[in-house]
Amino acid sequence: MPAPIVTELVRASVDGRVALCRLHRPEARNALSPELMEALADAIERFDADPEVGCIVIAGSDEVFAAGADIGALARREFHEAVLHPAAAFWRRLAECRTPMVAAVSGFALGGGCELALVCDLIVASETAEFGQPEITLGIIPGGGGTQRLARAVGKQRAMELVLTGRRFGAEEAERIGIVNRVAKKREWLEAAIELARRIASRPPIAARLAKQAVLAADETTISAGLEQERRLYELAMATEDRVEGMRAFLEKRPPEYRGR
Ligand code: COA
Repeated sequence: MPAPIVTELVRASVDGRVALCRLHRPEARNALSPELMEALADAIERFDADPEVGCIVIAGSDEVFAAGADIGALARREFHEAVLHPAAAFWRRLAECRTPMVAAVSGFALGGGCELALVCDLIVASETAEFGQPEITLGIIPGGGGTQRLARAVGKQRAMELVLTGRRFGAEEAERIGIVNRVAKKREWLEAAIELARRIASRPPIAARLAKQAVLAADETTISAGLEQERRLYELAMATEDRVEGMRAFLEKRPPEYRGR
């Protein structure tokens, strides 16, 4: 089993094939300081490189998922520092993760916190969750993918309203507009997210990664290029030992034993 990664700011552990990364900066409501971003990106990359890990859950506490960029650090940042800041690499590093990622959101997911949830592939929210892109109220705009991922997830009109007003919205609205996959009761959000992650992690791992890549291609390309890419990825899946096992197990009426080959 992969070793747990415990840093002061990110507490990461593994149970079966599910890795869990919990943000831990309670005194600043899990605001994304450079140190926290570095620790989280490191943990995600380590898990992504580990064939034993089939799904990664990112979570905060009951009270807060993440309150966004560290406003104290942001207020002091000069233009040249903003250009060179490791935050840009952070969002790229997370987006490059090939393992499916589930955000488990309880409490506030604001600014970079909302963007962190959106860079994940699925979102499970507690009924207490509050999302929002309040950057405009501070004189800036989202810089971690918020305008792009929100517009693709909820459509231009809704994204425009949320980004221009900076208003917060709850779990029920987030589910209705298509950001959240599942809303869980307030004491059950983490278990619900882990349960979903366990189900994904039980699938053949190469096919799961190919499926993630194919769905993400829908946002990147035209329909004809996307269909072409899907076909190539499908053909790759057809070349795996796991698909032979999956189909054989079905025909033999037994559970499949996937080996990630
Ligand atoms: N960056 C840095 N520090 C933050 C922070 C952030 N994004 N969000 C909260 N904190 C700090 C507060 O400054 C405060 O520090 P202090 O105890 O030294 O005064 C501490 O965390 C607690 O915050 P507080 O506002 O008192 O908690 P709350 O429970 O009343 O409200 C929030 C929680 C998340 C609603 C509120 O803190 C908030 O609106 N944060 C900013 C969200 C935001 O605009 N994010 C986008 C940034 S671009």
